[in-house]
Amino acid sequence: MEEKMIYLEERLKSFPKLSLSILPTPCHRLDFLSEKYGVDIYCKRDDMTGFGFGGNKSRKLEFLIGEAREHDCDTLVTSGGIQSNFCRLTAAAGAANEMSVHLILGGGRPAEATGNVFLDKMLGAQIHYVVSSDWNDWEAKSKKIASDLADKGRKVFRIPIGGSVPVGVAGYTAAFLEIMKDQTRLNTSFDQIIHASGSGGTQAGLVAGKELTGWPGRISGISVAMDKETLEKMVFELALKTASLLGGRVNRKSVQVDDGFIGDGYAIRTTGSEKAIELFARREGIFLDHVYTGKAANALLDWLEKGTLSGQSILFIHTGGQVELFAKN
Ligand SMILES: Cc1ncc(COP(=O)(O)O)c(C=O)c1O
Repeated sequence: MEEKMIYLEERLKSFPKLSLSILPTPCHRLDFLSEKYGVDIYCKRDDMTGFGFGGNKSRKLEFLIGEAREHDCDTLVTSGGIQSNFCRLTAAAGAANEMSVHLILGGGRPAEATGNVFLDKMLGAQIHYVVSSDWNDWEAKSKKIASDLADKGRKVFRIPIGGSVPVGVAGYTAAFLEIMKDQTRLNTSFDQIIHASGSGGTQAGLVAGKELTGWPGRISGISVAMDKETLEKMVFELALKTASLLGGRVNRKSVQVDDGFIGDGYAIRTTGSEKAIELFARREGIFLDHVYTGKAANALLDWLEKGTLSGQSILFIHTGGQVELFAKN
């Protein structure tokens, strides 16, 4: 496995990349939860990637902006939900690289700019609101705006929702290598990685890393929006494309999604996630969010309660998103 890791690290170095994040992010034991359930539980703090309020998406953006700069692009266009963390980070990365940024935010103009929208505005992004909760409508508008800007002579780099394209996903394969080093440093060997899965890129990057290095553990993506079948298909296709960019293949069985913690839909709060958020805040001093990490932590706690994780060493990835805690829409 060591040799495969070195090879993968070299392949990842060949991508044009912009250094945005402060890496490696911390990875530490969750003492209260570990003692309570008698299971070793660790947390990878990707909420602390350090750039633009942090979160998993700054890893994808390092590779995406690297490619945009390689093509001399001057404008970034992307879409997401009204409180999209990826849009906020794209706005920050664009501003820091003197690119103009257009964000297509789904859900309609809020009465007050709070949470991520407040930050998007502070970063100088141009916001286009779409009155729809359908991801396809956001993407259609994003394509239209990108093409209008190109007609006006801008060199546009359009990024699909969540940065979930192979080049962006490679950023999470790099994170996987970091996690492998964390387990050595912590003198443990993770049996399972648990994290929130939305557009599937984070999970695809981890799965590609697992397959390319031969790591035997399980990766459990906790869906926050899509049903198991749809998301597994998306993750598998994305992991395959990413792995092929990096010189390998992916086994379909390595893609495991649980869709039992979504509740009534994307960004709609659940009682389980609210309880998980409160527990993490009060007992571990860690703030989660309602859209992503709260739902993933709900799964973790549910499995701990049921005893399905006993005897395992577990890594929970905190993918960020806490800005949403300050949002009023
Ligand atoms: C905080 C947070 N966690 C998890 C995710 C899910 O990542 P992905 O879209 O790559 O599945 C996102 C996506 O926006 C996010 O913002």
